Amino acid sequence: MLIYTRHLPRSFAAAALSRHSREDAPIHQARAEAQHAAYVAALGEAAPGARIIEAPADDALPDCVFVEDVALAVPGGVLFTRPGAESRRAEVEVARRLLLAAGLTERGALSPDDTLDGGDVLALGGLGYLVGRSRRTTPGAARALAQASGLPAVMVPVPGDELHLKSAITWAGPTHGLLCAESARPWFEATLAPILPGGAEGLGGVTFIADALAANVVIVGETALWQGQDCPNLAALRARPGLTWRRVDMSELARADGALTCCSVIFP
Ligand code: GLY
Repeated sequence: MLIYTRHLPRSFAAAALSRHSREDAPIHQARAEAQHAAYVAALGEAAPGARIIEAPADDALPDCVFVEDVALAVPGGVLFTRPGAESRRAEVEVARRLLLAAGLTERGALSPDDTLDGGDVLALGGLGYLVGRSRRTTPGAARALAQASGLPAVMVPVPGDELHLKSAITWAGPTHGLLCAESARPWFEATLAPILPGGAEGLGGVTFIADALAANVVIVGETALWQGQDCPNLAALRARPGLTWRRVDMSELARADGALTCCSVIFP
């Protein structure tokens, strides 16, 4: 297993993109750095045999810690994206250099007319992908992902004004199913459930989580990293056998719209 991460730049607190006002949600730089370091350590402990690449930060790229948006693990290699935010496009180059040097093979490419943030891509194992049609991701990106992966990639609208698809929903595998923010339940029932292969049950069911942050989980090996507030639904899900759950606090990164999945790319 190879896990790609990138250090948090010193410009993060002052300049990372955020839909929250800095006054309402000021970011504490040192705390963000400590949280990110603990997150990377948790990944390493969850996957002791994994190689972890920690790319150096670039202070000119305040969002560069959110590596999920620049590279996607696809069968046989990696698809590099073209992030929807112009200020983030240059983040791709370091990922390309380090991941190809690590032996990964580049698969496919985005057309210059398309943009794709990896936060909009929900991988459903060998079944394929859901791709969020957000302000950052264009419909052509799903076609590029399907070509690069050889798997179906179905475009879906993101719920409400979410930044990314995975701001609202992630998948914890067939034993634990989908975790969906409670606020996105109407979207899930009207838009997503009807098009899922085999319905939600085909993916292990769906659990609605009151705290959207807690609906974003990272599965690495047999461990599920999660954050946010617990609730009875989540506690019941965590009690199921098959995964060890580890809580990781990334609340400072959440102030810049970062969830747990945003900060790593996991190549099995
Ligand atoms: N701050 C993460 C993003 O807006 O892409």
